[in-house]
Amino acid sequence: MVFDRAVGSYLYDEDGKAYLDFFAGAGALNYGHNNPVLKQAVIDYIQRDGVTHGLDMKTVAKRDFLETFSEVVLDPRELDYKIMFPGPAGANAVEAALKLARKVTGRESIINFTNAFHGMTLGALSVTGNSMKRGGAGIPLVHATPMPYDHYLDGQVPDFLWFERLLDDSGSGLNEPAAVIVETVQGEGGINVARDEWLRGLSDLCKRHDMLLIVDDVQMGCGRTGPFFSFESAGITPDIVCLSKSIGGFGLPLALTLIRPDLDIWEPGEHNGTFRGINPAFVASTEALRTYWLDDRLEKSTLAKGERIGRAMTELASSLPGTPMTAKGRGLARGLAFASGDVAGKVCRAAFERGLLMETSGPDGEVAKVMPPLTVTDDELTKGLAILSDAVHAVCA
Ligand SMILES: Cc1ncc(COP(=O)(O)O)c(C=O)c1O
Repeated sequence: MVFDRAVGSYLYDEDGKAYLDFFAGAGALNYGHNNPVLKQAVIDYIQRDGVTHGLDMKTVAKRDFLETFSEVVLDPRELDYKIMFPGPAGANAVEAALKLARKVTGRESIINFTNAFHGMTLGALSVTGNSMKRGGAGIPLVHATPMPYDHYLDGQVPDFLWFERLLDDSGSGLNEPAAVIVETVQGEGGINVARDEWLRGLSDLCKRHDMLLIVDDVQMGCGRTGPFFSFESAGITPDIVCLSKSIGGFGLPLALTLIRPDLDIWEPGEHNGTFRGINPAFVASTEALRTYWLDDRLEKSTLAKGERIGRAMTELASSLPGTPMTAKGRGLARGLAFASGDVAGKVCRAAFERGLLMETSGPDGEVAKVMPPLTVTDDELTKGLAILSDAVHAVCA
């Protein structure tokens, strides 16, 4: 399939056929395709010959972005972070976070979680769970130790029992960790949601054992789960936060590593890169923050629409009692877990044939993942959910 145009929640192929996009650039298009407000801001900026490529130079667009991000996002949440531009993609934000944690603590070891996904570069892969993706590295991926994510042991074991035992036992063989890296909802790992109390427990554990807490909000940040940062409902304050995808507003590449100010011990140029100043992305991002984050309307609508999808998925599961199916998710990051990747793949294919784009996730691709733009309308949701139901019945009935 070759796509040509895209507007709001729709992609159009070169023959003009419309597809409802419940994939949304894997979370890079929270405000939809070619959002008219963001598009106009970018057009105006290019039209007046605003700087497009700025390396790490100071520009008006960058200053506007930095000021707006502080005023609209950080200050109201009483968050104090230094803002680093680590490179254009989510993996760059993760690499910078891991490097800085090691530099600050002088330790090598990082704790990651089962089914985590943090990107495809070597450092990010070393803290990623998926064995197929890890295999692509072609070299040993070291200096990371996986621990069970929330629900991994089905609640049979108290949270962090194994992790804390290893930390406390000088005979455990666990190297003293520099940091823990975590997603609050594992997107690629199968829409696994960590409970707020689990995240609070993790944050406490990090403090007690002098480990930095890195939240990778590349996919779940920028409102995907409701609030701007996905960790807000847990009431925790990570030491480092990775943001990318929808921070660019318009689908343009932009990534941030947010750093507790006292941890910023980078030497000038110690972590650099050519594409850290894509100014149209700053412009789109600034406009997105001003348009969507000055009040809580987007957050509330995301939560309401997410609950609607959750209810529809639960009803769908109970309408086919012979097919094991579980509804998962938070906010507008939702999934239907099937017994196998084969079934989930067939469901996504059937949905595609009916004009709905969605992807699979999870270690075996067993979760059909639904992530519409946050700007999806109620009518579009109704249509998408009807197609999903149709596709599931066609495959499983
Ligand atoms: C949680 C998380 N971290 C990092 C990444 C990597 O981002 P990128 O593909 O932009 O390098 C992703 C991509 O899906 C992600 O979901």
